[in-house]
Amino acid sequence: PAEAVPQAPEDALFGLMRAYRADESKDKVDLGIGAYRDDNAKPWVLPVVKKADEILRNDPDLNHEYLPIAGLAPFTSKSIELILGSDSPALAEKRTASVQTISGTGAVHLGALFLARFYKVAGANRTVYLPNPTWANHNQIFGNVGLPIATYPYFDKQTRGLAFDGMVQALRDAPERSIILLHPCAHNPTGVDPTQEQWRAIAAVMKEKKHFPFFDCAYQGFASGDLDRDAAAVRYFVEQGFELVIAQSFAKNFGLYGERAGCFHFAASPGPDAGGVAARVASQLAILQRSEISNPPIYGAKIAATVLNDPALYAEWKENLREMSGRIISMRKALRAKLEELGTPGTWNHITDQIGMFSFTGLSEAQVKRLQEEFHIYMTKNGRISMAGLNTRNVEYVAKAIDKVVRE
Ligand code: LMR
Repeated sequence: PAEAVPQAPEDALFGLMRAYRADESKDKVDLGIGAYRDDNAKPWVLPVVKKADEILRNDPDLNHEYLPIAGLAPFTSKSIELILGSDSPALAEKRTASVQTISGTGAVHLGALFLARFYKVAGANRTVYLPNPTWANHNQIFGNVGLPIATYPYFDKQTRGLAFDGMVQALRDAPERSIILLHPCAHNPTGVDPTQEQWRAIAAVMKEKKHFPFFDCAYQGFASGDLDRDAAAVRYFVEQGFELVIAQSFAKNFGLYGERAGCFHFAASPGPDAGGVAARVASQLAILQRSEISNPPIYGAKIAATVLNDPALYAEWKENLREMSGRIISMRKALRAKLEELGTPGTWNHITDQIGMFSFTGLSEAQVKRLQEEFHIYMTKNGRISMAGLNTRNVEYVAKAIDKVVRE
C-alpha cells in the first residue's frame, strides 16, 4: 500500500540548513534558521546553562526516570510565573493549568489538539486566525488537527512595520469567538511587534468580539533583554480577564534548542468556578499528553528549573539574555549603518526598528536567490534574515552583497 505514498517536499528551513552545511565556500554566511550564534558564528552555550549542567551532573541522585505526565513541577510552576509574573491574579486565584511540552512546537500542537477537541462553545467559530505572515509551521500544526485556518494582516510592505489598521479591522470582521494566534514579542518572521498602546487596542477589539487568544511565546527575554517587558502583552490580556492559552519555548532564551524544553499554559477567566475550570482543563491535557508523548523529556527541563529556582543563577541568566539581545541589537545597527554608508537604494531604518531574532529585509525572492548562489549567503526566500548569523567579521561582506543585488 505504501506505493501510493507521494514524495513530499523537503522542509524549506531545514533544507536551507542542509544546503548551508554542504556549501564549501569560506565566505558562507548562515542567516537562515533562528538560532543564536556568537561573534565567531558558533552556537553559544549560555554560561548559566553550563553551570546548571555541572550541578546536575554532579548530583549523585541524577537519574533518567520518567517524569510525570504533566512534566517537572519545579519547571512548569516557575515557567508560568515567568510569563504571567509572580504577582499575577491568575496565579493567586489558582486558575491556571500547565503542562511541560516538546518545546514551543509541542506546546502549539498540544494547544491545537486541545482546542480541536474542546473548543465547542455554542456558536463558537473554530477558525484559527494566524498573522500574515507567521512562522511557517503554524499552518501545518493547526492544519494537522483539522482546525480551519484564516489569516489577519500583520506586515505592511510599504512601511515594513505593523499593518495595524488592517489587523484591527480583520479582528473586528472575524466571526465572534474566533481563535487568534498572537506572537507576544519578537514576531517571527517579521521582527515587528505592536506597541503597548496598540496591544491595548487589539485586546479591546478581541474582548468586544469574545475572541480567544492563543499566544505563541518563543522569545521572552531574548527580544528586549528584559523578561518582564517581553511578557507585557500576555500580562495585559490576563489583567483584562481573558481566558487564554500560551505556548512557551525555552529554545532561544536558554539556548536549549535540541533539548526541547517548553510548556503549555492555560489561564481561566476570573469567576467562581475558575479553579474548577483550570483543574478540568489540566485533566484533559494529561489525557492528550499521555497518548501523544506519554511524558516529556527530562534534561532540558531540569536545566531550566535549576536556573529558574536559584536566585543567583536566575540573575546570571538575565545577564546572558542581555548579552544575546545586546549583540543582536548591535548587529542591527551595524548592518543598517553599512547599507546607509554604501548608499544602497531604499530605506533601511526597519532593520533597527524591528526586534528579536529576525529582520524582514524586504529583499525579493530573486535577490535572495542571487545572495545564495553568488555570495553564499543563506536566508529564507521571504527575505527574512536571522540577525544572530551576523557578526563583526561578516556584516560588511553581507551589506556589500545586499548592496550589489539591490542595485542590479
Ligand atoms: C525559525 O523560525 O527559524 C525557528 O523558529 C526554528 C524553527 O523551528 O522553525
